[in-house]
Amino acid sequence: MARPGCPDPLGSTWLDDLGGQPKPSTISDPRSSGAPPMAVKVYVVYYSMYGHVAKLADEIKKGASSVEGVEVKVWQVPEILSEEVLGKMGAPPKTDVPTITPQELAEADGVLFGFPTRFGMMASQMKAFFDATGGLWREQSLAGKPAGVFYSTGTQGGGQETTPLTAVTQLTHHGMVFVPVGYTFGAKLFDMDKVQGGSPYGAGTFAGDGSRWPTEMELEHAFHQGKYFAGITKKLKGSSA
Ligand SMILES: Cc1cc2nc3c(=O)[nH]c(=O)nc-3n(C[C@H](O)[C@H](O)[C@H](O)COP(=O)(O)O)c2cc1C
Repeated sequence: MARPGCPDPLGSTWLDDLGGQPKPSTISDPRSSGAPPMAVKVYVVYYSMYGHVAKLADEIKKGASSVEGVEVKVWQVPEILSEEVLGKMGAPPKTDVPTITPQELAEADGVLFGFPTRFGMMASQMKAFFDATGGLWREQSLAGKPAGVFYSTGTQGGGQETTPLTAVTQLTHHGMVFVPVGYTFGAKLFDMDKVQGGSPYGAGTFAGDGSRWPTEMELEHAFHQGKYFAGITKKLKGSSA
């Protein structure tokens, strides 16, 4: 039901379903608490059907873990396709990387989200996970926290830029601070001799027909993104851990 001041032209009850309009954020500044510094928690949260995004996630984890005082946890989001459909798509069995719940996401100080593209945008498994974060949105639990993205596409024109760019809407509604990797990786991003994934939005790879795997440069970019992002998360948290 629409509420005063919040007309709902669709006449739907989605705001009520989510528990009403968002509340003001209750983020506190850890610098003012006088408490001993706590480890900075960076979560790497991904969906990967065939393993390319998972490979980038491993490297991102290594990069983020290289920053002192940063603890990194890698998670996958829940699958939404049936075993039958996954079988028809030739998907290998799931790995033992733990599956995250929306509530667990709120424990992170910063989150790097990874996903393969589907028609130029994030795979619906990741979108379904975001769709399940309405409770976090209502509490604005993620507001002010840094977030970055990494991704895989099949082809060069298949979504290396549209996939991360369209993901920014998810982060924006949560009030997360989008941290692109920019050109901080340096000269290698200007190399025109080889086909290479990744962009100023984040690390990326091309899966091709599935047989191409992240190159050394793409993995280095992923490591760099993890390290760069962890450094920013640490600064934003204001921790000396
Ligand atoms: C339904 C479907 C749609 C896809 N759409 C695109 C696309 O728009 N552009 C593209 O480059 N690749 C597309 N792909 C290829 C996937 O992005 C590729 O399989 C993925 O990047 C591999 O990553 P993963 O191994 O982590 O699953 C599509 C694949 C599927 C199954």
